[in-house]
Amino acid sequence: MESIQSQMPFNLKAEPRFPSTRFQGSKAKLVDWIWDSVKDLDFDTALDAFGGTGAVAHLFKRKGKAVTYNDSLRFNYLIGLGLIENDDHLLTDEKVDWLLDRHPRINYPNIIQAVFQDIYYTHDENAWLDQTVTNIRHLADPYDQALAYFALFQSCIIKRPFNLFHRKNLYIRFNDVKRSFGNKASWDRPFEQWFRHFATEANQAVFDNGRVNKALNLDPLDIPGTFDLVYIDTPYVSSKGVGVDLTLPP
Ligand SMILES: C[S@@+](CC[C@H](N)C(=O)[O-])C[C@H]1O[C@@H](n2cnc3c(N)ncnc32)[C@H](O)[C@@H]1O
Repeated sequence: MESIQSQMPFNLKAEPRFPSTRFQGSKAKLVDWIWDSVKDLDFDTALDAFGGTGAVAHLFKRKGKAVTYNDSLRFNYLIGLGLIENDDHLLTDEKVDWLLDRHPRINYPNIIQAVFQDIYYTHDENAWLDQTVTNIRHLADPYDQALAYFALFQSCIIKRPFNLFHRKNLYIRFNDVKRSFGNKASWDRPFEQWFRHFATEANQAVFDNGRVNKALNLDPLDIPGTFDLVYIDTPYVSSKGVGVDLTLPP
């Protein structure tokens, strides 16, 4: 089928760009190969049933398809909502400034400070997280919220040694040792700066391809409707039947 991209009522400020991500299993580096493999198939609607970062769903969206993104993890679903379903909401500087402020009328909890003390981030960083999560929850618009969560998730990941949450290893960031791994400058860069950086990346991914795109948070077998093409990229399972995502490095 001829691509309908040329007929699309594009509403672009610039070429949409999929953001950088640090998720194990992302196919962001393989999207050209994936497109080469499917581009001659006759399809107009596509389901990315295990969407993860959204890299493949975003590829299909860029190619003018009507895309349904799905992931059973809620944080991934929020990424799909912000980057795939969302056509036009952006995190403006004004919204980002509001998210990064402390507001006298909001009652801030200290859950992260209390429960995750000395585990993943410093006390001040945990306080920033408590404040920022609470501010995000006060946003009225679900797409704005989803974009803000994307920026928050990426900020949290990039500040972690190995980009992982598998160990209580905050000390790695502060040990005075010669390092052959990791990126201390990235870990120590303030959350606020990373948040602004990833809000910009999220905005660059948002565009309208003239189709109705959808993000879902379902068991794939419960997804309603029919699709011309279904892309399935399940979690990796070892020969012992263990989810590789869950296996801790030695
Ligand atoms: C290998 S990753 C997909 C990566 C994705 N193609 C990308 O480029 O980022 C597998 C995804 O499946 C999701 N997942 C795991 N079990 C699931 C289930 N039962 N239903 C739907 N999604 C599931 C995980 O949350 C994960 O995001």
